[in-house]
Amino acid sequence: MNTSSNNDSAQEKFYPVSTGVFRVLPKSRPPFSLYMYDRHLGDFKPVSEPGKVIVSSEKERIYKACESGMVYISSKDLQACEPYLSTHLKIVLEDLADSLSAVELAPLILSSMETLIAPLFKESVKLNFERFNEAVPALIETLEQNPAILEHILGRLEREHSLTNKALATGFTGLAVCMLGRETKTDMQTLLHCAYALFLCDIGLCRLPDFVLGKEFSLTVDEQKRIKHHPILSLEILTATKAIPKPSLIAILEHHERLDGSGYPRGASGDSISWIGKLCGAVDSFVAMIMDRPGKRSMSRVNALKTLYRESSMYDPNIIYALEKVMLKD
Ligand SMILES: [Fe+2]
Repeated sequence: MNTSSNNDSAQEKFYPVSTGVFRVLPKSRPPFSLYMYDRHLGDFKPVSEPGKVIVSSEKERIYKACESGMVYISSKDLQACEPYLSTHLKIVLEDLADSLSAVELAPLILSSMETLIAPLFKESVKLNFERFNEAVPALIETLEQNPAILEHILGRLEREHSLTNKALATGFTGLAVCMLGRETKTDMQTLLHCAYALFLCDIGLCRLPDFVLGKEFSLTVDEQKRIKHHPILSLEILTATKAIPKPSLIAILEHHERLDGSGYPRGASGDSISWIGKLCGAVDSFVAMIMDRPGKRSMSRVNALKTLYRESSMYDPNIIYALEKVMLKD
């Protein structure tokens, strides 16, 4: 439930703050206000001020008011809350998703997923996997209930190539294919399997040196071999978490296999490649084409789709069609 203010700012809305959300918001000079509804005034009254410390006694009072659903945050302050909320995606989705619109949730979800995914690629899967793993089911549940969020996320994806940006683009584009592009509904469990595979299929690339990743052409035979080994590296890294479902692991190994047998690492073909593997393959190729890399101009969505259609012996035509429906919606 959200409530519009009666004051002069007609667009301002107020959302209830749960105890979980209050816990993750800063108490030392928060850059926003918290509000309580004043029945006598018929309006929202601030209970904390931006830049002012919330002292212990106040903290306790506000916490108790949160338990009774009496504390609110203004829609105007959502952006200022983003850095704090984005590190706690599960809480945000469980406690705030019903109150916020798809437009408001999209930037929060995107920045949260960036916060969760970047350390996996830049630091260590072992140390950072748990927080990512905890958030994924809540993410899928929220997107499944409100797939329109994906449309707003797709419009906000970064085009500049980095392993994190590509993982985010592949993940959300693939989920949009499943939730917005297909005629048949994809069940929750399959969506979850897709999410792990789409977001993490390239995790093995973080074991390769930057100079190899930065090279678009003129790769030596050894460098090509190392690139082609990355699905196996991804599989090894993610198997060690003991938390990734088997269908996701299979798809991760298969994400560079192609229907005509021209892919790697095994040269698998046709229906020996799983559906999620085919999805990852088509979406990963599409995203790679539309991203900007140094020295390489990105393709438009239309030209990238044309390329996939031209190479249709390599990709599942139904997946390309679903991708087209999602990407050329406007
Ligand atoms: Fe890959």
